[in-house]
Amino acid sequence: MTTPPRVPLRVGIIGCGNVALNFHVPAYQAVPAHFTVAALADPTPERLELGRTTAGLAAERVYTDALDLIARDDIDVVDVCTPQHLHRDIVVAAARAGKHILCEKPLAATPADAQAMVEAADDADVVLGVVHNYLFFPEVVAARRLIDSGALGDVRTVVVDMLGVVDSPGATGYQPRWRHDPAAAGGGVLMDMLHGVYLAEHLLAEPVERVSGYVDAATPGDAVEGLALCRLETAHRAGMVNIGWGLGPGGIRITGSKGRLILRYHDEGTMPWAPFESMTMTTESGTETVDLPSGQELAPLIATALRDTVVDLADAILGRRSPAAPGSAALRTLESTVGVYQSAAQGTTVALPLDPASPTHRRGVIGLNDLDIPATSPVRQRHLFGLTSQGA
Ligand SMILES: NC(=O)c1ccc[n+]([C@@H]2O[C@H](COP(=O)([O-])OP(=O)(O)OC[C@H]3O[C@@H](n4cnc5c(N)ncnc54)[C@H](O)[C@@H]3O)[C@@H](O)[C@H]2O)c1
Repeated sequence: MTTPPRVPLRVGIIGCGNVALNFHVPAYQAVPAHFTVAALADPTPERLELGRTTAGLAAERVYTDALDLIARDDIDVVDVCTPQHLHRDIVVAAARAGKHILCEKPLAATPADAQAMVEAADDADVVLGVVHNYLFFPEVVAARRLIDSGALGDVRTVVVDMLGVVDSPGATGYQPRWRHDPAAAGGGVLMDMLHGVYLAEHLLAEPVERVSGYVDAATPGDAVEGLALCRLETAHRAGMVNIGWGLGPGGIRITGSKGRLILRYHDEGTMPWAPFESMTMTTESGTETVDLPSGQELAPLIATALRDTVVDLADAILGRRSPAAPGSAALRTLESTVGVYQSAAQGTTVALPLDPASPTHRRGVIGLNDLDIPATSPVRQRHLFGLTSQGA
């Protein structure tokens, strides 16, 4: 480690889009004993200026080129808030400069990029934490605690429904529809909401070893999926993760050998748009409501989870322990997600980790174009991810 940890840690934020300005800047500003926002970078002038005024920084602390920010020797932590296809070069440069890193999810658009980032952080002995912020939602923390207590017996299944996802555009001034570009986003609603994938694995409390899935477009002609049904298998357990843009239902259901746990959201909607409503545990003794405060609305909920995420990062940097979502865990989540796309295209179950030489490891969802995808594949028939009817 080249930067001796001392608080407040000085953060440079790269990317001044929606998540950075609505949630990251306020999260650091909420914990001034831990962090100070010291610099920003964004090549889009109007976003950079909006960021500068939001963070209250002088003009000499903002950059159009991320590498100029990384070159500052008064930055301890680089926080990466660009779209995911741009994460790799920034994270690798930051690690080589000895900076600790917080990176937005998904860690990258391809497993190969994510692996390079994890290796760069390991080589430089810096912390690489990833924003898997739903891990900090109070009902998720409570559910995992109940599972660990043994109250449900052995966990058998976890079902995460997020079929009411809102298709939020990116910041105006940049490219509001980058989430619909498979080369930039690395997928559609599933990639954007891979929160559901890491939540399922977290509640299964075992690493995912095999995946399979079905994906479909929400709108005919869209290049990315708007619906994804995923099956995640661990050594002894299985999860189902159903994610879609639209107005479908949400919620989490966990089955154990001694009982079940059901997490409900307002109007049976999808977290975090629908606030948490109740969690009930049913065992042989009957059904009880777990005592939890009612859930927050979207903005305060994400604000609190981001604040918890950055405090967790500070603890990791200062205490040299692993953050809640280290790069290695986020790489696994990304591989599970890309594996689902491969399964949906090929009609097979996909074993993890992906073969590093495989097209989907190297190029993510775009790598499907290098695989033998049958003409009957729904992914080919829908022309998702650049696939055509005829094949390459
Ligand atoms: N954890 C969460 O709950 C959550 C929520 C929203 C977004 N995200 C993630 O955050 C990331 C950004 O999403 P967003 O919604 O803020 O996107 P956005 O479109 O609102 O903003 C992207 C910003 O990146 C900037 N940018 C582009 N190229 C850049 C470069 N080379 N260097 C620096 N900045 C650059 C753009 O100018 C723009 O300001 C994505 O990876 C997304 O998945 C996470």
